[in-house]
Amino acid sequence: MNLENLPAPEPDGSSDGPWPSSARRVGGEIAIGGIGVSELAAEYGTPLYILDEDVLRARARAWKEAMDEAFARLRGADVYYAGKAFLCVAVAKAVAHEGLAVDACSEGELRTALAAGVPGSRIGMHGNNKSREEVELALRAEVGHFVVDSLAELEFVDSIARDEGAVASVMLRVTTGVHAGGHEYMSTAVEDQKFGLSIAGGAAWQAVEKTVNAPNLRLVGLHSHIGSQILAVAGFRAAAEAVLRLRAEAVRELGIEIPEVDFGGGYGVRYTVLDSIPPSPAEFASILAEAAAANVEETGVPAPRVSIEPGRSIVGPAGMTLYTVGTIKTVEAEDGPRRYVSVDGGMSDNPRPILYGADYTAALASRAPSEGVRTRIVGKHCESGDIVVRSVSLPADLAAGDILAVPATGAYGRSMASNYNHVPRPGVVAVRDGRARWIVRRETVADILALDAGYGK
Ligand code: LLP
Repeated sequence: MNLENLPAPEPDGSSDGPWPSSARRVGGEIAIGGIGVSELAAEYGTPLYILDEDVLRARARAWKEAMDEAFARLRGADVYYAGKAFLCVAVAKAVAHEGLAVDACSEGELRTALAAGVPGSRIGMHGNNKSREEVELALRAEVGHFVVDSLAELEFVDSIARDEGAVASVMLRVTTGVHAGGHEYMSTAVEDQKFGLSIAGGAAWQAVEKTVNAPNLRLVGLHSHIGSQILAVAGFRAAAEAVLRLRAEAVRELGIEIPEVDFGGGYGVRYTVLDSIPPSPAEFASILAEAAAANVEETGVPAPRVSIEPGRSIVGPAGMTLYTVGTIKTVEAEDGPRRYVSVDGGMSDNPRPILYGADYTAALASRAPSEGVRTRIVGKHCESGDIVVRSVSLPADLAAGDILAVPATGAYGRSMASNYNHVPRPGVVAVRDGRARWIVRRETVADILALDAGYGK
């Protein structure tokens, strides 16, 4: 089966996606957070990212509750929101308010979380190539832990901590060899890629020894992130078992404590009807808790405190993008006519189709849909790969000025947006209880020109 001639499912209140669960058709048009898209487009312009704050919070809460419940009988759990999926002050505040910590992987993400009032102790500092400035800033903010990615970085963090008169709490990111993830670029635990310390190759063990012997490092845990957009539980179970085995071995053989384990993020979401419905947070949490309990049983080593770092599964289905239809043409494809509908955004606001071949769906949002024809939605950029939705059935009478909505764009859309073709990046509007507000302002061409240093005198 493919997506040819399939219309988007109608928004139906489901929390399994692809639509934000608050999206509904009201009087023909789609409304989200109690506001119609025509009003949102008129007030804020298009393209526009919309984020439903109640949906975001409910999804954050679902992870927190699932983990708290699954690990209540072990040593408890923490949920870190992976800021890379989408971070701004309002989102950091919202997730922190729901009891989540924040995973930051750059100075920008760290400063955003701090600006939101997230205490350093509730921030995990990531990155496979942290700069001196980033490490210093994180030490001064007293972040809860650094996730260290290599032996070289271990020495780097140790030496900066020594200069700062500090002790850095360290989690070691290990690679388990588990292959999972929606795309090669999102598979992060196989041997031949840039992340982590290999368990099989011995670097992970070496790093454990090095950390416990470094005067300015404290080993707090092991970390594993196997990839992203994963819709099955098997890879998470296998990786959890491998990390827990390594931990138990190190605890017993070296006589040390490793109080925590972090199993990373990667929990997938539904972009189109062809994606299977993702396991719930409770299902994922119980798989991880079962692995932890089994490890205690097998090894006699007390359970660690466990954390995870979901990003996409919290913010992805809380968002959608609005576009305005522009030029329309029909071309003769190999298998018959295909209508090309151009919209006012594209690969600059959503690079996922051109980067990963990601599929999305879309619906006519500003009025009731009618009988559809095979359509490809494309952007306004100068590349033929500038595709927004590869194939979807949209009404035959679609016309310039109609508003289209693309669901499930809350994660890795705004956060990976670019200014290609000097197109300003759209802003993000949060909706809640029939009210809307900017949480990230729309960029203007003046913002782009402001950085242009000119030709000189
Ligand atoms: N933790 C670590 C260490 C990560 O590297 C990531 C994602 C996450 C957590 C959060 O993963 P999530 O739960 O959001 O899947 N740009 C790609 C996704 C790259 C993910 C990178 N790391 C995309 O658009 O699909």
